[in-house]
Amino acid sequence: MTAQLTEPARTASGRTASGRTESGRTQSGGTEPAATESVLTWQADPYADALRSGRGPLYLRRSDGWLLPLDVERWCAEPDEADEGVLARCRGPVLDIGCGPGRLVATLAARGHRALGVDVTPEAVARTTQAGGSALCRSVFDPLPGEGRWGTVLLIDGNIGIGGDPAALLRRSARLAAPGGSLLVEVATADMDERVDVHVDDGRGGHGAPFRWARLGARALCAAAPDAGWTRSVPWQAAGRAFVALQR
Ligand SMILES: C[S@@+](CC[C@H](N)C(=O)[O-])C[C@H]1O[C@@H](n2cnc3c(N)ncnc32)[C@H](O)[C@@H]1O
Repeated sequence: MTAQLTEPARTASGRTASGRTESGRTQSGGTEPAATESVLTWQADPYADALRSGRGPLYLRRSDGWLLPLDVERWCAEPDEADEGVLARCRGPVLDIGCGPGRLVATLAARGHRALGVDVTPEAVARTTQAGGSALCRSVFDPLPGEGRWGTVLLIDGNIGIGGDPAALLRRSARLAAPGGSLLVEVATADMDERVDVHVDDGRGGHGAPFRWARLGARALCAAAPDAGWTRSVPWQAAGRAFVALQR
């Protein structure tokens, strides 16, 4: 999605979610209810199917009917120019939260970095390992290896939305990063700070259960960061995408 949850396009269909979920396997301890909800939903068929094929269309559908396109093809491709800006800022061991099919983790590994992806979707973890990266099928809110020792933590492609509670995710990321470590966050290009109810939707009738998501622009992220333990914030833009580097 990147926060590149580009501004959404409305569709003609007003279909609503059925509430069907397929929980699949999770090691979630269930400490964050909203995050657990999101775990179940991301594991639902449309997202897993899209990862298996490497193709969309795929959307987050907001409860008011707006569609937020998910860029599955880009996630399954090699890193692009904007991704390269992220990779160039990585220092020390790298933890990619919500790594998806793992283009960043695999590229970092190929370049000699220690990098680990974490994702709740088994198909995402499978693709990451097939691409040569390391990944765990686990929620970011579960216990993770190397807590407090990651030199760089990544929240790319709109992943600041995970769990629908950016403050909680920023605090969790701060506990994962080493003192002096960085959090690289992709943000919405527009100035926004919203919590949304969405479900994954393939535009052809397949959908998961509703869950909470969040979208933030750079200003909202920088405002929320200090209370979560992040000090310096440096925004940058590349190839039409927007990012903020936070430092512990
Ligand atoms: C917007 S996609 C990110 C795509 C990814 N960054 C990439 O390069 O392909 C969000 C990802 O976060 C994962 N996710 C959702 N909730 C999560 C959680 N609580 N912990 C870890 N990953 C989660 C989803 O399975 C999904 O792969």
